[in-house]
Amino acid sequence: MSLTGLAEGNLGDLLRLDGRVAIVTGAGRRIGREIARVLASQGARVAIGEIDAAVGDRAADEIEAEGGIAFAHPTDVGRSEQVASLVDATVARFGRLDILINNAHWEKVGSVVELDEADWDRSFDVLLKALYLGCKYAIPHMEAAGGGAIVNISSVHARHVSDRYVTYQTAKAAVVHFTRQVAWDFGPARIRVNCICPGAIPSAEEHDRTMADEVRRAEATMLKALKRAGHPRDIARAVLYLVSDLSDWVTGQTLTVDGGEFMTFPSTGARRMADYLADHPDRRGSV
Ligand SMILES: NC(=O)c1ccc[n+]([C@@H]2O[C@H](COP(=O)([O-])OP(=O)(O)OC[C@H]3O[C@@H](n4cnc5c(N)ncnc54)[C@H](O)[C@@H]3O)[C@@H](O)[C@H]2O)c1
Repeated sequence: MSLTGLAEGNLGDLLRLDGRVAIVTGAGRRIGREIARVLASQGARVAIGEIDAAVGDRAADEIEAEGGIAFAHPTDVGRSEQVASLVDATVARFGRLDILINNAHWEKVGSVVELDEADWDRSFDVLLKALYLGCKYAIPHMEAAGGGAIVNISSVHARHVSDRYVTYQTAKAAVVHFTRQVAWDFGPARIRVNCICPGAIPSAEEHDRTMADEVRRAEATMLKALKRAGHPRDIARAVLYLVSDLSDWVTGQTLTVDGGEFMTFPSTGARRMADYLADHPDRRGSV
């Protein structure tokens, strides 16, 4: 074996997804849309499971205009029959299923006292039950294909609490452990299951506006080790690694992709914020 790695050939080839079929939920906007684009750009044929039919179609058209292959299937990921229909339509169209990205997002903010039971149930249907449904219907097809890769999108909120955000944070924490359990159960079938915890990810347009504005850039990156705002492609590229053969021996893991924000002590962040506000008193109440 060569220590230089030259004997490995072109490792970039392992990032290609030619011949594979992927489902991305909630892919009409922002992170999911970019995941679908990046997977398609590497040769995957992509099904977009999106509740908003218009943005789902737009995302699929965009991929096709860029030379990829995609279609949108109107789907409420919280409904069993609709997730089954998404999987069936994908396999009917493309003949197989190799990749599932559980990304769709809806939640109701509130404390346990404020939240209606229906909002609690709906939040958990989209943030957690949808993952169970996606895996339940997708995995038999992956087993038939000899393996597969699933990525669940959690959040840095899985490990932290903030004000009145009980549905999101509880569900996202469960996503991390759900990932490990499914990875354990289906590892013998060569189905890898991993999880990504994104930090704050604005839309691509918001990212560009933030980075072009000195004050917004300083404030958006104040607590990040890397002095750049997040971009949907940061998450999409991490997803690509986790579904590709480059991560062939990685399963059950959670990768935080946040520009290095959520690793310091709260007191360090608070001190940095206080220093900034001492220099910019006009920004008090805005950051
Ligand atoms: N953007 C961030 O700052 C951020 C940070 C951490 C984690 N995340 C996670 O990343 C994922 C994507 O986030 P985003 O910011 O791109 O979300 P978004 O709200 O911009 O887009 C979510 C998409 O999901 C769709 N959707 C909503 N309910 C659905 C349902 N029942 N069935 C199917 N589709 C549905 C929406 O129509 C929308 O197109 C989510 O899981 C979110 O929790 C986002």
